[in-house]
Amino acid sequence: MILAPSILSADFSRLGDEIGKVVSAGAQWVHIDVMDGHFVPNITIGPPVVRHVRSVTDAYLDCHLMISDPDRYIDAFAEAGADGITVHVEACTHLHRTLSRIRELGCTPGVSLNPATPLDTIEYCLDTIGLVLIMSVNPGFGGQAFIDAVVPKIEKARDLAQGKDILIQVDGGIGKENLGMVLSKGVDVVVAGSSIFNSEDPVTTIKEMFEIAREQNH
Ligand code: DX5
Ligand code: ZN
Repeated sequence: MILAPSILSADFSRLGDEIGKVVSAGAQWVHIDVMDGHFVPNITIGPPVVRHVRSVTDAYLDCHLMISDPDRYIDAFAEAGADGITVHVEACTHLHRTLSRIRELGCTPGVSLNPATPLDTIEYCLDTIGLVLIMSVNPGFGGQAFIDAVVPKIEKARDLAQGKDILIQVDGGIGKENLGMVLSKGVDVVVAGSSIFNSEDPVTTIKEMFEIAREQNH
């Protein structure tokens, strides 16, 4: 399992410390939620914050762009130090072009699907995709409940990625109580925000999450 703690639920006044803590506990990726107040009803952070985060960690920076017309900003995120850039299929007019550009910039191209979006929207772009992000909440906020109806989509995504160099990621409402179920569907990368940063001790929570993964040979 690759664990990607979402800093959306971190204490932004001590962001460097918060990241140091989760990375030292074993998290390999840092998930950075970028929101524009247009594609989603919330506003978060942009490339300058990514640049500062880059300067305090060597962890993989997984940038989840919940923004309209992401083509305008992907170069800026790549320059800021993103390792992976994930765009929403619902926000792209020319998905294949956008993903190709992300790859050209040296980042892993990811594509994310809202809970209501069917998988066939990405079927003809598989050659350009490095990661498929299945949203298990409607994007915009941390701390929402996992939507069970997306589970069959996770399984279908796993089938679609079979034999290809594509990671399957799930984001939203994941904690110790449902991590085992999510992993059993063949997920490679798990995003977790509130269940880590709002827990009493994020380091212990992460260790327990890896223990659950180990029990399932992930
Ligand atoms: C939701 C974001 C998530 C969010 C997950 O729009 O994309 O990454 O931070 O938070 P939790 O794990 O609290 O559902
Ligand atoms: Zn996210």
